[in-house]
Order: sequence, then structure tokens, then C-alpha cells
Amino acid sequence: ARNVGILAMDIYFPPTCVQQEALEAHDGASKGKYTIGLGQDCMAFCTEVEDVISMSLTAVTSLLEKYGIDPKQIGRLEVGSETVIDKSKSIKTFLMQIFEKHGNTDVEGVDSTNACYGGTAALFNCVNWVESNSWDGRYGLVVCTDSAVYAEGPARPTGGAAAIAMLIGPDAPIAFESKFRGSYMSHAYDFYKPNLASEYPVVDGKLSQTCYLMALDSCYKQLCKKYEKVEGTQFSLSDADYFLFHSPYNKLVQKSFARLVFNDVVRNASSVDEVAKEKLGPFSNLTVDESYQNRDLEKLSQQVAKPLYDAKVQPTTLIPKQVGNMYTASVYAAFVSLIHNKSSKLAGKRVIMFSYGSGLTATMFSLRLHEGQNPFSLSNIATVMNVEGKLKSRHEFPPGKFVETLKLMEHRYGAKDFVTSKDSSLLAPGTYYLTKVDSMYRRFYAQK
Ligand code: ACO
Repeated sequence: ARNVGILAMDIYFPPTCVQQEALEAHDGASKGKYTIGLGQDCMAFCTEVEDVISMSLTAVTSLLEKYGIDPKQIGRLEVGSETVIDKSKSIKTFLMQIFEKHGNTDVEGVDSTNACYGGTAALFNCVNWVESNSWDGRYGLVVCTDSAVYAEGPARPTGGAAAIAMLIGPDAPIAFESKFRGSYMSHAYDFYKPNLASEYPVVDGKLSQTCYLMALDSCYKQLCKKYEKVEGTQFSLSDADYFLFHSPYNKLVQKSFARLVFNDVVRNASSVDEVAKEKLGPFSNLTVDESYQNRDLEKLSQQVAKPLYDAKVQPTTLIPKQVGNMYTASVYAAFVSLIHNKSSKLAGKRVIMFSYGSGLTATMFSLRLHEGQNPFSLSNIATVMNVEGKLKSRHEFPPGKFVETLKLMEHRYGAKDFVTSKDSSLLAPGTYYLTKVDSMYRRFYAQK
């Protein structure tokens, strides 16, 4: 199989959201802390009728319908998620309801979990399957689904929720350049979920930022090394058109791209201009640890990187800023934003993705874009996803009501024997929602 990659995509995020500016005021944070300090505009969240299972049911059903895919044509289904609803039964098995109805129970794959990285693991599994001897000629399907919620405190504004479905196969408009890949895997306690009775993580915010940037540096070095081995020339930021990052909040994305510019200065890459060399060169002498703590370097590198950021990163930031951290779906939501903003202009472009999951696991990888053929064309993907329409039809909750919703969800997490309000009035037609959890913890869903 040639040009294996993503043939089609769809995104779902809850229509319920809270404005970061309003949340800032409600929390008593200084004005601008969430909007400028974290760089976030708005945050989506699940109400009591939605969860990671309903969102993934919605995303998968919508993708199959809108691209006209017969459910029998799916041979592998993989889910990436870090939102634990059941410690044994995978989210994938819930999704089998869609396929069983059509007589298809011959579907490989289960869930992958490691913080925000599970979706990437699932994607690699599906791509590898299509490229392997085990491939039976059918499509793979990857679903990233998460509801990111934090306890009250500084991390709460970095929540979010979404599900993204991706159809995998050969001759894809979004094709893997599988040789250009670098990973960094290590043991860290930066963000983890040891309390099985709570949906909230334990998080060391500052450590998680440093872990993220260390992983980024290391992945970039590995990717450069592999590129140079294959191509015989140096890789630098000028060899890719767009850089997409896992986006817990936009400020970290700004810092990450600036960090790659600093990497190119230290590597003395040919793409680096005189201004960058002059301004950032003096910091090359810092030890690596010092370089993560140096505020002057952080600020200056963001300034130097700004024009390149505007061209190569900014078009990928819309949904992460508007919806928040979607955990496994976050870096793919950056991709959805890019297709939404640039659909017809993307043919021939190279995109570098950085996927990070705390704990920690990270990979940087490369994709090459082609216009493709209907229904698997970049322009059709942009039309089907209807990002503009989905963002416009949202309902803003005042912060008080958002906090109330999270309180209710705290009680509902791990609970049994309850019925929801079954209120689907805010949901778009076709959306799945939770109706009840019975005395044996079995979950029931309906479709609007
Ligand atoms: N106006 C403008 N900017 C402001 C203001 C203001 N009024 N107040 C603060 N800021 C800036 C700060 O200067 C800082 O920016 P800088 O880093 O460029 O200097 C930024 O806002 C954040 O302020 P902090 O005081 O550093 O924020 P705090 O410690 O309260 O929390 C954090 C931020 C650590 C990111 C927290 O939200 C968190 O723990 N989030 C979850 C962890 C996370 O997402 N980690 C990322 C990788 S792991 C993962 O994806 C889960």
C-alpha cells in the first residue's frame, strides 16, 4: 500500500462552553491571565448527558455517514483516550454497536492509553496495520476522545472536550512520511491519575511544562537525525510548511515553536537568519537545564520566532484556543484547524506533528499533503467538518453554571443507578447522549 495515511476526518465537540474571559473574572484571576497568559479564548465541556463514549459514537457515525462509508468496510478500529469510564471494557467495544448493526463484527483493535498520547499510538497502530501483511484491504478507523476536567485551581482553565474520528487507508490526502519520526519516552510524575475514584488528574504544572519542552527538544533532534540519514541534507524549520503541537493551552504552543527556533540556532542550521543568530546565539552556552529556566531566552525566542509562528503555526491554533485541551484529540484538532483555514492551499505541503502524553511519551512525525480525490479530498474534508458552523452554534454557560456542572459530574463519576435529565435540547441532530446508568453500571445512550 502506498501513501498510507488519513483519508477522512470528522470532529465533534460539545456545544456547551464557557468564555475564558468570564471564567477569569469569576475565579478572581488577574485580567488577561487565561486569555493572554494561557492564550485561551473559550473552553468546551460535557454536561451530564455527554461523555467520551457518546462523543465518540457521534464522531464515528457522522464520519461514516458524511463520507458514505459502509460500516462493513472497516477492518480495524482503535480508540485513544485517557478518560477512564471502565477499567476493563474498552471504549472501542461500545463503538461496536455501530458495526454489529450492519453485520460487521470482524474488527480488530482496542483502546490505547497514556495521557494525551493514546490517539497517536492508535493512529500508528492503524497505519502500521495497513502497511503490513495482516492488512485485509479494508479501512482502519481511529478515534481520539477525551473530556479534560481539572479540580478547582490554576489548571481548571486548561480543560476541554472533543472526539475526532480519522479514516485510515492507502492513497491518502494526508500521507505519512514514516521514515521521519522521532520519539522520547521516559518515566515522570508530571501529570497522572492515580486516584481511581476521581476523574481529576494529579498535576505538577511547572514540571509538566519542562517535561513537554524536554520531550520536544529530544524528538526534534531524533527527527532531524533520521531525516539527514535518509535525505543526506540537514533538516531545519524551513523544510516543513506547518508545525502542529499538542495544545494544553496556546501559550505552551508559542513557547514550543520558539524552542524549535532556538534548537535551529544551536544546531547552526542554514535556515537561521542573522537576527536570530545575533539575538539567540549568546544563549547557546547555557546548559540544557538552564535553558529551560531562562526567562530572557523564553521571551526573546518568542519574539524572534513571531513571524515564522504566524506563518507556520497560527493557522493550526483555532480549535485548541476555542475548545481547550482535548487531550488525545488536541494535536489532531490543530490539524483540523489547519484544514479548515487552508484547505485548498495545502497540496504538496509538509506538516510536522508533535504529540505529547504526560508520564511520559512523545513522538514527532511528518505528513505530506495531497489534494486527493472526492470524497477523500482536503477540500471535502474541510466542508464535511464544518468547523465554522459548529463553533457558531455553541451555547455559552456563565462560569457559575459551568462550576455547578462539574460538581454534578464529580458525583456522577463512577456512580451507578441514575438517570440523566435526557435533555438533548442543546445538542445538534444526530448527537448521541447518555440516558441512564443502571444498577450494574451499564450505560445507555440515545441518538437525537
Ligand atoms: N495577563 C497576562 N498574562 C498573565 C497574567 C495577566 N493578568 N497573569 C499571569 N499571566 C501569565 C504568566 O506570566 C504566565 O505566562 P508565561 O509563562 O509566559 O510567563 C502565564 O500567564 C501563566 O501564569 P502562571 O502563573 O505560570 O500560571 P499558573 O501556575 O497559575 O498555571 C499551568 C499555569 C501550570 C499551565 C496550569 O494551568 C496547569 O497546571 N495546567 C495543566 C497542566 C498542563 O496543561 N501542562 C502542559 C503539558 S501536560 C498536558 O497536556 C496535560
